[in-house]
Amino acid sequence: MKPKYTSLRGVRDILPDELKNWRRIEDRAREIFRRYNYREIETPIIEPAEMFIRTVGEETDIVRKEMYIFKDRGERLVALRPEGTAPVVRAFLENNLYVPGRVAKFYYIGDMFRYDRPQAGRQREFHQIGVEALGESSYVLDVEVIMLLLEFFEELGLVDAVLLLNSVGCPRCRLEYSKSLREFFSPYVDELCEDCNARLENNPLRILDCKVERCKKVIAKVPSILDYLCDDCRIHFENVRSVLDSLGIRYVLDTRLVRGLDYYTKTTFEVTVPGLGLSIGGGGRYDGLIKDLGGPDLPGIGFAIGMERLVNLLRDRGLLVEEEEVPDYFIIYDATLVTKAIILSKLLRNRGFIVEMSYMAKNLKSQLKEADRSKAKKSVIMREELLANNRVILKDMITGEQEEIELDKLEVSLIGERV
Ligand code: HAM
Repeated sequence: MKPKYTSLRGVRDILPDELKNWRRIEDRAREIFRRYNYREIETPIIEPAEMFIRTVGEETDIVRKEMYIFKDRGERLVALRPEGTAPVVRAFLENNLYVPGRVAKFYYIGDMFRYDRPQAGRQREFHQIGVEALGESSYVLDVEVIMLLLEFFEELGLVDAVLLLNSVGCPRCRLEYSKSLREFFSPYVDELCEDCNARLENNPLRILDCKVERCKKVIAKVPSILDYLCDDCRIHFENVRSVLDSLGIRYVLDTRLVRGLDYYTKTTFEVTVPGLGLSIGGGGRYDGLIKDLGGPDLPGIGFAIGMERLVNLLRDRGLLVEEEEVPDYFIIYDATLVTKAIILSKLLRNRGFIVEMSYMAKNLKSQLKEADRSKAKKSVIMREELLANNRVILKDMITGEQEEIELDKLEVSLIGERV
């Protein structure tokens, strides 16, 4: 059937069978987050656009090309959230959720919007499961957050998840590194794309994130940011790596991993699987973000997982549950018994069964056809002469066998019901 209107490019419906798997994955995430002491938070889908421009970064693709941005009727510049970190930090500050000496741990599950070119693994509306831990600068928290992320993938059966790890240092280290990047790239200006030429001026680190082939060739040879880390950032990163090593958590050091958002400091990471060419999740520290949003000088760290990418991967690996949930009972009845049929359906539902019924007084044969179509496991056939003796016919829709039973056998009773 072709409707008069179809959904917009880059967005899609998540259909019931698929959504069951989504909810299962979300439940798994909620359970793990609970064990790590994270609490759920929900922030609005619309936020002041300025907040993302300032934090995600003016030179990033997300802000320059991908933000859904508009003026509302009150002339305010509004954005559909392209990511969840800045909103969680804003909510943390706005609602005074800071308790000195305590790490504030939040998680969220929700949709994000980026006006990207739709392609495999890239939608304009997509869903993230994310966590943010605010108020602790220790490398131990970095390790815990990474462990949490990997544990989630492991529990879902994604055994070949690969952790890419880097440190982008602090603004001090980056000043030095940016200088050396400018020097490095200056002989290559003709080879770099137009965007990268602009980035060379404003934010050379962003060049490392460019997806244009000819830029990628140049980027392959850049100096490593790790050689430019200040003592504090270097020691922090060494500590993270050393504990990961001791725990036997494997990672690939990727010194060009700068991530697509500007707020990162120190540890950054992404998770992918061999051959995918996309990240399923990513995150890192953002020790300046809370202050940038007007709060105290507190550190933060978090990650987000792309739900669509994760689900596609799990489906490819045969790790999704494909079974369809069908009614336990379908209720078929003589036209005179409509009220009793409704009551019986309610009683069975109260007992936790999935119950479907025929909605129109049709003959027995067509009701049985309906029962077949509903894929119900069993039908309860209510006939006047039988029900007078508190009896019904129970038909097994799979074997076709049927038997006359006392209604009590279903552990429900219509006796005493107001009919
Ligand atoms: P991000 O790397 O931009 O980070 O996005 C996280 C994940 O969202 C990606 O790894 C990917 O799986 C998914 N994703 C991103 N864009 C799309 C898209 N267009 N279509 C489908 N999936 C997509 C952030 O958003 C940070 N806020 C993560 C974070 C939290 N850092 C610290 N805390």
